[in-house]
Parts: sequence; structure tokens; C-alpha cells
Amino acid sequence: MSANQAKPETSPHILVIGMGGTIAGLASNPAEQPLQYQAGQVEVKSLLAHIESAIPKGVKLVSQQVANINSRNMTEDLLSDLGNTVRVSLANPAVLGLVITHGTDTIEEAGIFLQLTCGKYAQILGKRVILTGAMLPANAPQADGPSNLLDAIRWASTPLDNCPGGVYAVMDGRGCMAMDLAKRHGTALNAVIQASPSSSVGLINPSWLSGVKAVEAAWTEDLPIPKGNEWPWVEILTSHAGARSETIALWLNSKVKGLVLAGSGMGGLHDAWQNSLISAVKQGVALVRTTRTGAGLTLTDIPEKDLEGCLASGRLSAPRARIALQLALNAEKQAQLAGKSLTWQDFFARIVVLPEIR
Ligand code: SIN
Repeated sequence: MSANQAKPETSPHILVIGMGGTIAGLASNPAEQPLQYQAGQVEVKSLLAHIESAIPKGVKLVSQQVANINSRNMTEDLLSDLGNTVRVSLANPAVLGLVITHGTDTIEEAGIFLQLTCGKYAQILGKRVILTGAMLPANAPQADGPSNLLDAIRWASTPLDNCPGGVYAVMDGRGCMAMDLAKRHGTALNAVIQASPSSSVGLINPSWLSGVKAVEAAWTEDLPIPKGNEWPWVEILTSHAGARSETIALWLNSKVKGLVLAGSGMGGLHDAWQNSLISAVKQGVALVRTTRTGAGLTLTDIPEKDLEGCLASGRLSAPRARIALQLALNAEKQAQLAGKSLTWQDFFARIVVLPEIR
């Protein structure tokens, strides 16, 4: 194994990118209090050294540390760095596949971001990008990071006939498309993938694989990665009992470019928001409606007629819809600079119709 080399590695290898997270975390009293820890403490090359004896024979690994943070502090700048690193690495003929170790708190955002900006590229090049993380810190007695990392390395380096190139994720022995990642439990070892359509690692079933192929056929072109300081400002607002019109009105005095409205149930919004949302549309603020339940579809004109220009999020959860809206707004800006009259709705609609894997 070679790690963080000064000279670029030219022989075929899997690149393991470290972003931090619990998988790189350390607890001060791991035996008794494994959940009291600091995320992003151990370098990715040390995580690899720890599992060296279990790495499949013939698989060469190279590591690259892009960040080492608690992912609750993820920035848009860092997402751009990650996306650009992935694109450059995919283009490198010596890189056969990529693994990314990431904090689970915002791995949902990283998953949709990488699918929408690098998914087609990975598919065309026939390379897999596998996101993984852990729920227990690296020095906990039952640490789940080593097995997750090994699964990710095995999947990234498995011959292609078993599963096409693309952006995937693996945790707790299960794999899914990275765009389906969802952390839906605070502490359970299967917190991240349990809510998503997934397949046992090493036992990829045909119906899951045909779902992957349907998504890949529908995703025809990656969206541009925004420059670090050019991400459009988009916020998530939650509709709830006692919602106030001022919540929307306050944002209309800011430079916000878009609002993701996490409604109750099927994505219903409190009537108290109605007039200020009409003002938001008139002001040119992009609106996307989703559900605060964390699962299920948000359909156009259900439960009531959508405001003109406000799009329903389909199967995108609020955090995913936010990233998708930011990328769609950025794509609109780039298209207009190139003299094309495409709107954010054109780009967002392409994302919403991606088939759901069941
Ligand atoms: C983080 O997201 O960095 C901390 C939590 C985790 O990785 O499970």
C-alpha cells in the first residue's frame, strides 16, 4: 500500500479520499463511552494501515486527505473540492475506482451532490465511487468503520460485470446508490441506509441492479460543480403547527435565492405562508416543496395546487432537494452565460424524474 505520495501513483490503484467523520473519530474512553468522541481525528492513511492485512490481494491503495472534519460542519466550498477531486481522479487512467470516507451526518448531501455532478462521468468511464462512513469512532471496541471501509474497497475494485460504474454507498453490509443515502436514526449502526432501497454487499440482486441501470439511463448529463463561493443561497424551512407568515417574509429581506419548503404529510404547507409565498415567487425566489416526514414522494399539485413556478421534490428529501436546487440554480446561471435560455426548473425537473429503485 502507498499513501499520500509526493509523486503521483501511476500503477493501477483505488484512491481512498478522506473527509473525516466518525469513521475517523476518537473517543477518550472508548470502552465505556464510545459515543462521546471527536469526529475527524485520524488520517485516512492510518485508517487504511489498520485494515492492511484484510485488503484483497493485488489491490493497491492510495490515499488523499481532502478534509478531516465533523460533517455537520460541511461547507459548500468543501463539497466543491470533493467534487473536483472526484472528477480529476476519475479522469486519471491509473485510478480504477474511488472510496470516500465521510461523516454520516451530511453524507446524504454528499451522495446526491456526487450523483448529480459526477454520476454520468463515473458511468461512462466504468469506474465506481463508493461513499462510506461509520456510526462508532475508530477506537471503539465494536467500531464499524473497518468493515465498512473494507466493503467499500472490495466494491470499488470488483470487476465491472457485476455492477456498472457510478456513485454508490455502503454501510453496515448494505449498498445503495449514493443519491439514496438517508440517515434516519441518531445512533443505530444501520442508521444511514436503512430507509433507502439497498442491496446486500456481495449479493447484488437483479431487481436492484435493473433499478440502478434505469437511473443511469435517465441521468444523461452531469451538472456543473459551482465554484466554492458561487453556490446559490438556499434555505430549508419547515411547516409546522403554529407556522407564521413572518417566517417567509423575513427571508424576503435577504439575498436568499431559493427556499426548500418541508411541508407536513404529503408536503402540505401551512395556510399562514400562502401570501408571503406568493410574494416570494413575484420576487424571483425559487421554491421547491417537499415533505418533512423524511420519506415518500412529494407530487405536483398534491395535496393542493402548487403556486406557479414552485416545483414538487418528487422523492428528494429536504436536504437532497436543497443541494439539487442549488445545482439547478447554478446550472441555470451557467446556461445563461452560454446564451442558452434554460431555467432552474428545467434542470430540477430532470432530477425529480429519476426512477425510484424499489
Ligand atoms: C459526522 O458526520 O462527521 C459525525 C457523525 C458521523 O460520522 O456519524
